[in-house]
Amino acid sequence: MSTIIRKKVSSNPFSGEHAFFVTTARGVEEVLAGEMNALGLSGVAVEKGGVRFTGSLADCYRANLWLRTASRILIPVAEFPCDSPEHLYDGVRALPWQHFLTPDTTLAVECNLRDSALTHSGFVALKTKDAIVDTLRDHFGRRPNVNPKDPDLLVNVHLARNRCTVSLDSSGISLDRRGYRTESGEAPLRETLAAALVAHTGWDGSVPLVDPFCGSGTILIEAALKALNRAPGLLRGRCGFQRWPSFEASLWRRVVEEARQAERTTVAAPLVGCDSAAAVLSTAAANSRRAGVEEYISLSRSDAGDLVPPPSPGVILCNPPYGKRLGDDEQLKPLYKQIGDVFKQRCAGYTAWLLTGSPELAKAVGLKATRRVVLFNGPLECRLLKYDLY
Ligand SMILES: C[S@@+](CC[C@H](N)C(=O)[O-])C[C@H]1O[C@@H](n2cnc3c(N)ncnc32)[C@H](O)[C@@H]1O
Repeated sequence: MSTIIRKKVSSNPFSGEHAFFVTTARGVEEVLAGEMNALGLSGVAVEKGGVRFTGSLADCYRANLWLRTASRILIPVAEFPCDSPEHLYDGVRALPWQHFLTPDTTLAVECNLRDSALTHSGFVALKTKDAIVDTLRDHFGRRPNVNPKDPDLLVNVHLARNRCTVSLDSSGISLDRRGYRTESGEAPLRETLAAALVAHTGWDGSVPLVDPFCGSGTILIEAALKALNRAPGLLRGRCGFQRWPSFEASLWRRVVEEARQAERTTVAAPLVGCDSAAAVLSTAAANSRRAGVEEYISLSRSDAGDLVPPPSPGVILCNPPYGKRLGDDEQLKPLYKQIGDVFKQRCAGYTAWLLTGSPELAKAVGLKATRRVVLFNGPLECRLLKYDLY
């Protein structure tokens, strides 16, 4: 039997308080929860892969606009036991889809599953879509179309240990797609992960931030946005909820206006980026221009071995190249040793943070890390290592 999480339906199905689930990369949950508490959200509770909160439609809009380390803000609408196609169909069919979609809007279904009787995510997505479309056909006499690439409503089905949660994805396009990074260099960090790294360092904009392997500039851009207190969502196109029949445009305008008012116009300390590849530096410059932060970031071509940071104190944060193929680590060891030497000899008074997916390369740095944070860069388990440089 389907438990519909919000049974009360008024003119706007999202009026009143709701439960939300905010997804993020594994290892980033605590940082995200810190952001959510700082935003004043209630009932913040950490789970694996995400953080829950309860709040209003305005909270949902603010969360989409402000959270730097969130991937998607989901609104669970039903939860039910599910170990067969029939259970899935009936559970989804029991929901009042006519409040979320019309025959003239489009939909797509995304599914993730684990440890369940139903094992094929494509099949689960298809069955869910059928149930939604049938409900709407019964109600309106017409059915909406599916648009997998650019739907008005993205439905998320999460099936774990034969328990199915159906959610509406209020973000639509994942929140890490800020809109400023139309170009990138080799192995760019996700914007949300870069924001998480900045948060881990505790950097508050009062001392220099240096990235000697800046690539397309993601870390520095995210740091600049934070120092300016600029909501990352201001750069994005429309969120999913802006295409829903329930969208309250005046409320969204108010939330956006509040964010614009909260913005600072200066950054107290320099943001410095270097890279040995000239091409990637022009990408970093173009990205920071699109993000509207180019005046706060200075970029120069230089080898990490030649790094001379601004006077201390300050923070170094970087993800140097890492080995993708067998044997790469051996070749990269001298670079990591050089990083350790530069940290030791030229960066006294700094705190350095280095993200790497290779314990072998971390060892080659030759310095004792005072903190280790486990984070996932996509599927790759990484360590963010902290070095206090005296
Ligand atoms: C993993 S990427 C950094 C990605 C970056 N964080 C981003 O989000 O785009 C590593 C970068 O280090 C640069 N690099 C490699 N060897 C270097 C060296 N010896 N000195 C400085 N930069 C180097 C590469 O050109 C590449 O852009």
